[in-house]
Amino acid sequence: MARINENYLKLQAGYLFPEIGRRVRAYCEANPDADVIKMGIGDVTQPLIPAIVDAMHKGVDEMANADTFRGYGPEQGYDFLREAIAKNDFQDRGIDVSADEIFVSDGSKCDSGNILDIFGSDNKIAVLDPVYPVYVDTNVMAGHTGAADENGRYEGLVYMPVTADSNFEPEIPQEKVDLIYLCYPNNPTGVVASKEMLKKWVDYANANGSIILYDAAYEAFISEADVPRSIFEIEGARDCAIEFRSFSKTAGFTGVRCALTIIPQGLMGTTSDGTKQSVHALWNRRHCTKFNGVSFPVQRAAAAIYSDEGKKQIKELIAFYMNNARLLRAGLTEAGFEIYGGVNAPYVWLKTPDGISSWDFFDKLLGESHIVGTPGSGFGAAGEGYFRLSAFNSLENTQEAIARIKKAFS
Ligand code: MLT
Repeated sequence: MARINENYLKLQAGYLFPEIGRRVRAYCEANPDADVIKMGIGDVTQPLIPAIVDAMHKGVDEMANADTFRGYGPEQGYDFLREAIAKNDFQDRGIDVSADEIFVSDGSKCDSGNILDIFGSDNKIAVLDPVYPVYVDTNVMAGHTGAADENGRYEGLVYMPVTADSNFEPEIPQEKVDLIYLCYPNNPTGVVASKEMLKKWVDYANANGSIILYDAAYEAFISEADVPRSIFEIEGARDCAIEFRSFSKTAGFTGVRCALTIIPQGLMGTTSDGTKQSVHALWNRRHCTKFNGVSFPVQRAAAAIYSDEGKKQIKELIAFYMNNARLLRAGLTEAGFEIYGGVNAPYVWLKTPDGISSWDFFDKLLGESHIVGTPGSGFGAAGEGYFRLSAFNSLENTQEAIARIKKAFS
């Protein structure tokens, strides 16, 4: 009989968001009249902006015409998109990233998991705790860990707790680590990293030959001028970092699918005998072997984000969600909650009242206020006692949720 990858059997329960979905469905079946507001998974709610819709239509028209029809595209993405990204997101901001360092893909979740294909199995891996669960689960699947303990922490991973007690600043680990996952603006806490903090990590990585896997999926939500938008703003990062970015949250592409990964041409990893190898070349090999590129109309749509109209409309879209975040922050504060995030990120991270557990608070909020959020412990042991609310919603739902929370908790 065919053998399975037994590493999958080490995984804890279900992936967090399907598990929440399962619980919410069960609740709604038992309480069909409950008007449930979903602020759990960070999924966008607003329609695509007109500039994107027009570009996607035009892309489809190009595919309908024999002269402009395209078959397989370049696996790394069309030049028109890679060049627009390099110019607008990096070069115009004084950040050194060129178009040939950008790999267009169908999602950052996929890329941040798939990147493990090109790294060895004996790397020491460090993750923040709480953490976007994909980083941990993909390492478990790849056999980079032992079993989970009673807190859900896997043997072999280095966890770096980030809680209010340490001002959400991860400490550089005592032991040497090879791959370091950082995510800023952070999912789930919504906090950001300062340039000084990132510089410490870049210096650590360069001193130890480590690589930082930097997830910047929420960079478009940064509102404060001094907050770094890219790890490549930090001196030395081109020698030690890979960055993941996504159009999912920036442009409402969760159902469209387009993202990018940046790997500097000079980034090196090493073989077991110490020979240096280009990480860019390995990822290119992997990408071309396992991926055929993002669909042409979708890449046309993504490029429209960088047109004058597109930029203006994206700014309005982000402002819409960040107004929800602002209202959430204000409402939760008035209701007496201790809150974090929500200024440069679409997530508000709150401390559960009276020390109740994250899942108990989930049940209470769902049962009493008919609001779905995400329990902090679902993101890791250090997330226990915290809870995440997403600003991705309509204004009406956000206002209604705040009113219900105030009624229940003030
Ligand atoms: C989240 O809610 O954390 C995100 O939607 C998950 C994701 O982007 O995959």
